[in-house]
Amino acid sequence: MAGKNIMIILGSPRRAGNSTLLAERVAAGAESGGATVETFYLHGMDISPCRACEACHGAAATGCVVEDDMQELYPKLRETDALVIASPVYWFTMSAQTKIFLDRCYALEGPGGNALKGKQVAILLTYADPDAFCSGAVNALRTFQDIFRYIGAEIVGMIHGSVGKAGAVRDNLEMMTKAYELGRKLAA
Ligand SMILES: Cc1cc2nc3c(=O)[nH]c(=O)nc-3n(C[C@H](O)[C@H](O)[C@H](O)COP(=O)(O)O)c2cc1C
Repeated sequence: MAGKNIMIILGSPRRAGNSTLLAERVAAGAESGGATVETFYLHGMDISPCRACEACHGAAATGCVVEDDMQELYPKLRETDALVIASPVYWFTMSAQTKIFLDRCYALEGPGGNALKGKQVAILLTYADPDAFCSGAVNALRTFQDIFRYIGAEIVGMIHGSVGKAGAVRDNLEMMTKAYELGRKLAA
């Protein structure tokens, strides 16, 4: 049986940041399990906010009409088996890059609903405040839950924790191990 395809979306502008390092562990675990992993760094892409033109919805839907780098991601999102989203907490929720990407996933409509329906999803979330409520991590986690429940995609794992300086998550053996194991799970 062919290995699974897994897309990783990096929502932090920090290339060596904590959520990105967790995503690398997920990728390593997934690849060790035979999956093919493709990673996309949102901050380096030209992705503008949804215009709410609704051209992607209804009987005459044409898909998203915004000509930017989401057009590269749409076919991959339709094809992928699993989607991993890695984001920092910014101002008590996910990063703006991550939210804009998710808003644009509104356009993944098809006859059977959103193209992400039925796919596996994993969330990686890092923040500074040691309390998940005070940090706002719960807001982000709740939003991810609501989005993927609405779409009908299955969240198979959410790894989140308090880590401040870029790279500090390397010292968090528990989170790094969990991330690797989540990758193995996605590949299985
Ligand atoms: C603009 C900005 C806003 C932030 N807002 C929060 C916040 O609301 N709550 C929190 O706990 N940490 C906040 N942080 C800290 C980051 O979430 C934290 O450093 C995280 O580990 C960064 O993840 P990254 O390394 O993947 O970018 C903020 C950082 C920045 C730059």
